Amino acid sequence: PTVFVITPTFKRFVQKAELTRVYQALKPVKNLHWIVVEDAVNKTDLVANFLKTSGLKYTHLNVRTPDILRRHRNELRRMKPRGVVQRNLGIQWLRENINPHKVSGVIYFADDDNTYDSKIFDEMRWIQRVGVWPVAFTGAVRWAGPLCKNGKVVGFHAKWGRFRPFPIDMAAFAVNLKKLLIDFPNATFVAVEQPGMLESSLLSQITKVEELEPVTPNCSKVYVWHTRTETPKDSILGERQLIKKGMPSDKSIET
Ligand code: UGA
Ligand code: MN
Repeated sequence: PTVFVITPTFKRFVQKAELTRVYQALKPVKNLHWIVVEDAVNKTDLVANFLKTSGLKYTHLNVRTPDILRRHRNELRRMKPRGVVQRNLGIQWLRENINPHKVSGVIYFADDDNTYDSKIFDEMRWIQRVGVWPVAFTGAVRWAGPLCKNGKVVGFHAKWGRFRPFPIDMAAFAVNLKKLLIDFPNATFVAVEQPGMLESSLLSQITKVEELEPVTPNCSKVYVWHTRTETPKDSILGERQLIKKGMPSDKSIET
């Protein structure tokens, strides 16, 4: 089975560093197809060249988050879900370009800023319906995710967001291709305003907690960390000062 990885990404100071970390986790994985969706009106050269030289099998897409879904100044970070239209475009691309009667696989939504152990991709490859596993640094605890016993999900561990129908992070599940392409051909992420509901907005359309398949195995290991990269403010400020002096860092060197 093929692992289809859908990654929303957007332009920022640390973008290439983030993409490099994800790429290095994907590189050793066999039979993987990376669908990178830029949050942008146009595809950027940085991402296009990055993918071209990656040696990975990939599809490069773009769609800009519409204004109503963008976070406005002074608005709380949590109030607008991120990467929604990008992930939905990735799903749509699969529906239009992959024949699920001929191709077997799973779909995983990998944010560009998390830290992935390559092992997770070979664990998720065999998921028949919807597979789940724990993710570190989410749910306001050391790790959050499913509690599993004898091949069943018997509960969830989290400190924050226990009200959610599926109290797990985006990085904590993968879906069999047939689920989203044959069984539920209209299921999408829904940009609800309530924080933390994005995962549940899709999962509640396509599965039930009783149907979830424990992975890693039996939800026993963490292979994904919900990391967040600090913006190197010194470099941004210093560069701005150099630009003002007419002495910017060599622009032909991409970062
Ligand atoms: C948490 C979850 O881990 C995300 O999967 C979920 O989308 C998010 O909450 C949410 O509820 O919206 P968090 O770390 O807060 O994640 O989100 P980010 O990592 O900042 O963004 C998630 C993805 O969307 C990333 O791949 C990022 O590159 C992308 N993104 C973010 C955009 O494409 N456009 C943006 O303006 C912001
Ligand atoms: Mn993140």
